[in-house]
Amino acid sequence: MFDVVIGLAIALSSVLWVEVVRDVYHALAHVWQPLYRLHVWHHRVFRRDLSVVSDTIYRQAHWYNDVPEALVMLAFSIVPWAIVSTGNWSTQWAAWTGSIYTGSFLLGAIARGWGIPYADELTDVTHRPGELTNLPSRWFVNRSYHWRHHFDNQEAYFSGTLTLVDKLMGTALSLKNKRIGVTGASGTLGRALLTQLHKAGAKVTAFTSSSDQISLELAGSKLPVNTITWTIGKESDILAELEKLDILIINHGVNVHGARTPEAIALSYEVNTFSVHRLLELFLSTIKSDRDLVRKEVWVNTSEAEVNPAFSPLYELSKRASGDLVTLRRLDAPCVIRKLILGPFKSKLNPVGIMSADWVAKQIVNLARRDVRNIIVTINPLTFILFPWKEFCVATYYRFFTKANS
Ligand SMILES: NC(=O)c1ccc[n+]([C@@H]2O[C@H](COP(=O)([O-])OP(=O)(O)OC[C@H]3O[C@@H](n4cnc5c(N)ncnc54)[C@H](OP(=O)(O)O)[C@@H]3O)[C@@H](O)[C@H]2O)c1
Repeated sequence: MFDVVIGLAIALSSVLWVEVVRDVYHALAHVWQPLYRLHVWHHRVFRRDLSVVSDTIYRQAHWYNDVPEALVMLAFSIVPWAIVSTGNWSTQWAAWTGSIYTGSFLLGAIARGWGIPYADELTDVTHRPGELTNLPSRWFVNRSYHWRHHFDNQEAYFSGTLTLVDKLMGTALSLKNKRIGVTGASGTLGRALLTQLHKAGAKVTAFTSSSDQISLELAGSKLPVNTITWTIGKESDILAELEKLDILIINHGVNVHGARTPEAIALSYEVNTFSVHRLLELFLSTIKSDRDLVRKEVWVNTSEAEVNPAFSPLYELSKRASGDLVTLRRLDAPCVIRKLILGPFKSKLNPVGIMSADWVAKQIVNLARRDVRNIIVTINPLTFILFPWKEFCVATYYRFFTKANS
């Protein structure tokens, strides 16, 4: 039994290893000219709907890119065997699994290079032509995930089968040239997020309920950003602006602290729950094409008050309701929806917060680039255990007791 487990672990590790080699080779091909000269054939092949420009170029691309890539993987597949051969295990044979696995890719690439009928359909699944119907997946590269490497940003989305290397390198989501809007823009986190997103190459838009023009403080100078004024309850007035965005970050929020008047209840729910939900639905209504499905995203700042006390009951109630609605809507949303689960940081809303908004914003951007869908930034270790568990249970409950529209 022990041998089977060890053998399985060695076999899986050897497959993981060759996948890492594949993705590192791919990333290298984008920065090292001699490799890029071969790899560029792969980028010449496809139109935006992933149909091929010409069968001749398609076949050539396999000889110049896919076959050399598989040969490099095959050469490096010896490494796991070299490592385990130093030990005294009876399961050393399992280390060759990566080589056999790579061999199947090599044969597939050769078959496509030769133009053998159906070889492309059977072995080149991330480049099949046609409409993109699924959201970019989290752990295994699907067509939508890989499409972005060709047509969103060639300096990101390098992974070929598993998304692990992109997650490690921070290339699993590119923010470069993305049009990103942030609500609550005049607030502490709003400004910090706009700054970090601008630094990441995004084109930012500030959505504010104040009449102020929003500017970013960059290296001692002020940079005014595109600023849109909106009012709670009149979300549909900004539909045209939402249509222009790739990513909407719903960040505005209010904390009535110890108040429990009818007005405090109404304000908390109106700002933290209902306006968030209305904006979310409006933004989802702007997703019309398969390209929107792949490029657009919403991030909702719900807070770790979803699972922990914030010592402000109305804040907790309204944020939890908002978080639960996001969980419900995520079940069949037409684009990726991320949650921001943040611990206490210093701001107008929380003057005794411990973290700094700048640091929190930096972590949010870092984790989003690693395609983390529930972005937790907190000093409370319990949140890292409680939130995923709560999210899983609530999502499962909603999945069983609700029905999709279609
Ligand atoms: N601070 C924390 O410890 C903490 C922890 C977890 C989560 N959060 C969440 O992080 C987000 C940002 O909060 P923050 O700490 O940066 O607080 P903040 O500095 O007070 O910013 C909140 C912003 O929300 C907008 N807002 C407030 N009331 C509004 C209203 N009635 N109508 C429309 N917009 C309104 C305002 O921006 P505009 O004037 O630009 O519209 C305000 O500046 C909030 O959702 C908050 O719940 C905060």
